[in-house]
Amino acid sequence: MLYTDKVIENFQNPKNVGELEDANAVGEVGSPACGDIMKMFMKINDDGVIEDISFKTYGCGAAIATSSVATEMLKGKTVEEARKLTNQQVIDELGGLPPVKIHCSVLAEEAIQAALDDYEKNHKKGESADIEIEVE
Ligand code: FES
Repeated sequence: MLYTDKVIENFQNPKNVGELEDANAVGEVGSPACGDIMKMFMKINDDGVIEDISFKTYGCGAAIATSSVATEMLKGKTVEEARKLTNQQVIDELGGLPPVKIHCSVLAEEAIQAALDDYEKNHKKGESADIEIEVE
């Protein structure tokens, strides 16, 4: 199976590339299958909505294309909705991926989950810090 036009388009003109300076959620994962690395940055507002999202990847074309599409799918979504995004949905959005490239989309899904874990960890810390201030 060859790459779909949408994969090629997203590889050649990826969206949301780079670091988000005011990100409050960052996730980084590496693929044991190929050694590629992916990093996701999100800016999540007080309502739990992903206002902005970007990625950086030292990876293959399929990893770049899946991250690009995944960031587009998640912009404006809530943390809860983002938790449910699967690599299969991203593959479907791209019109398919060759079987040897499925792990690249898994990397994108894992980087998203890692960023959401980071957000939830920081968010809980923030809440308890508020309580401490109130007690003082
Ligand atoms: Fe490693 Fe695609 S070959 S992420």
